[in-house]
Amino acid sequence: MNDTFLKACWGKEVPYTPIWIMRQAGRYLPQYRAIRGKSDFLTMCKTPELAAEVTLQPIDILNVDAAILFSDILIPCEAMGQGLEFHEGKGPILFPAVRDEATLNKLFVPDPEDTMKFVMDAIRLLRKELADRVPLIGFAGAPFTTATYMIEGGTSKNFLHTKRLIYENPALYKSFMDKVTATITAYLKAQISAGAQAAQIFDTWGGIFSPSDFREHALSYVKTIIADLKGWMASEKIDPVPIIYFVGSTAGLLEDIKTSGADVYGVDWRVDLDVAIDRLGGDVVVQGNMDPLSMFLPQDKIEENVKDVLSRASSARGHIFNLGHGVVPETSPDNVIALVEMVHRLSKK
Ligand code: CP3
Repeated sequence: MNDTFLKACWGKEVPYTPIWIMRQAGRYLPQYRAIRGKSDFLTMCKTPELAAEVTLQPIDILNVDAAILFSDILIPCEAMGQGLEFHEGKGPILFPAVRDEATLNKLFVPDPEDTMKFVMDAIRLLRKELADRVPLIGFAGAPFTTATYMIEGGTSKNFLHTKRLIYENPALYKSFMDKVTATITAYLKAQISAGAQAAQIFDTWGGIFSPSDFREHALSYVKTIIADLKGWMASEKIDPVPIIYFVGSTAGLLEDIKTSGADVYGVDWRVDLDVAIDRLGGDVVVQGNMDPLSMFLPQDKIEENVKDVLSRASSARGHIFNLGHGVVPETSPDNVIALVEMVHRLSKK
């Protein structure tokens, strides 16, 4: 098996720097759009054969070192009892928005094998189809990032309703977050039991906070999840899977992120990777961190950026190459294929 990705996650010696790309299964690939043209996004997520098929596309097309399950961080919101729809061009809509006790009380902590069985079925199918070619990454949203969608009722610019709820009714926010945290913990355990070989926690919106608010209202719940997962893997004698914690707008929060308990820290592009490694404590494993929009540079300039990131990563114990956030739909697949080739070639020992 190509276990370069897993070795790098544990900070072990690797023959080259492994790479995967956030949103690697997505609209920039014509092969994805061909399948998406025939079914809507949620149907794809809920049909294990389709989810597995698009998960595998980037493995064949890009030659990346890990597969990430095709799904969405909002799937557990529906399992908790909220309505979820994706509208063309408008993004997700969640209803009713959670802003009062009555709405919160209607939400429950679901049994993932019952309400989200299609995710675990996709994982089981993928492990068979991958036949150990590359490891499979499972994922969930961090409680705070997930909660923003549930409170705002969709995507937001300034997170008004979320911050108002936190500041005006902290007790309600906390009991809501306890439910979301329990849901995500059980969901990640189910993914690992089904065969996920790593787990990434996406805290895309963590950077909208001051550091002290981030610690109290976002990070504390992530720490609970990671500690719970690690204790559970040890007590159940499950081969430990690495936990990757990705926070958007990482730069203001690095000293806090390093207390999360994660094995790998995802870093976005707004900070130089060597500076991030230093502020994370030096002896760490990092993932990142090229600007996704740098994929619009000519390939010789992309190559310069790759060299820069690789050389800045050299002080870390381990490095997994990635973009600092998801690849955008307008990106040329040829440039992504070239990126993977460059990382493999330029990092070869
Ligand atoms: O990385 C991967 O390839 C795995 C699949 C994956 C998707 N979403 C597929 C997707 C993953 C890991 C996610 C995570 C996700 N989803 C996050 C966290 C990471 C991030 O990108 O910030 C968030 C915030 C979401 C919520 C979400 N999903 C939004 C806001 C949208 C609409 C905006 C958009 O890009 O269209 C989605 C839809 C979505 N999730 C698509 C895909 C491939 C596009 C759906 C389509 O085909 O129309």
